Amino acid sequence: MIRNNLWVLIPMTMLLTACDPNKIFGTRVTPPKEQPKPVEYQLFSPTVAIAGGAPAKAVKVASAGEKKYAGCASCHGADGEGGVGPKLQGQSLSYIQGRLTAYKNREKVGRQSVMMWSQASLLSDADINDLSDYISGSF
Ligand code: HEC
Repeated sequence: MIRNNLWVLIPMTMLLTACDPNKIFGTRVTPPKEQPKPVEYQLFSPTVAIAGGAPAKAVKVASAGEKKYAGCASCHGADGEGGVGPKLQGQSLSYIQGRLTAYKNREKVGRQSVMMWSQASLLSDADINDLSDYISGSF
């Protein structure tokens, strides 16, 4: 009788103990979880420690425009040297802004404007400003 009931009792107990075999058998069936690592604070960046201990970045933080340019680099080159798309090096802020706005409005600039229409349609005014700022200031 007890033997038969055992097969009911064990799953029942597992249910009651939220299926933790460690509790039922009193043993360590599952390996202990890795202890969370203590947050390392950097002594010379107290503001970061106060803000919650996010690791302080020693590297230069990429500007908004630089991040957004990542999608343009495949056609215009990492340094705006050109490729599928024309060279952007040496262009002024207002020139780039003007071009991007024109493409956003589906205006024809060169023979391949269609390629830029889809690109520019995804850009907000803030994106256009960030990108123009980055391109004219960096290349
Ligand atoms: C698929 C390739 C491709 C991608 C990606 C692309 N472009 Fe272009 N871009 C072109 C081509 C091709 C032209 C030339 C269009 C024309 O004939 O009017 C162009 C033209 C331009 C121009 C005008 C250049 C000039 O001399 O008048 C600017 C500014 C520009 N792109 C910026 C960007 C920016 C910023 C991005 C990223 C958001 C981007 N492009 C992404 C292909 C691309």
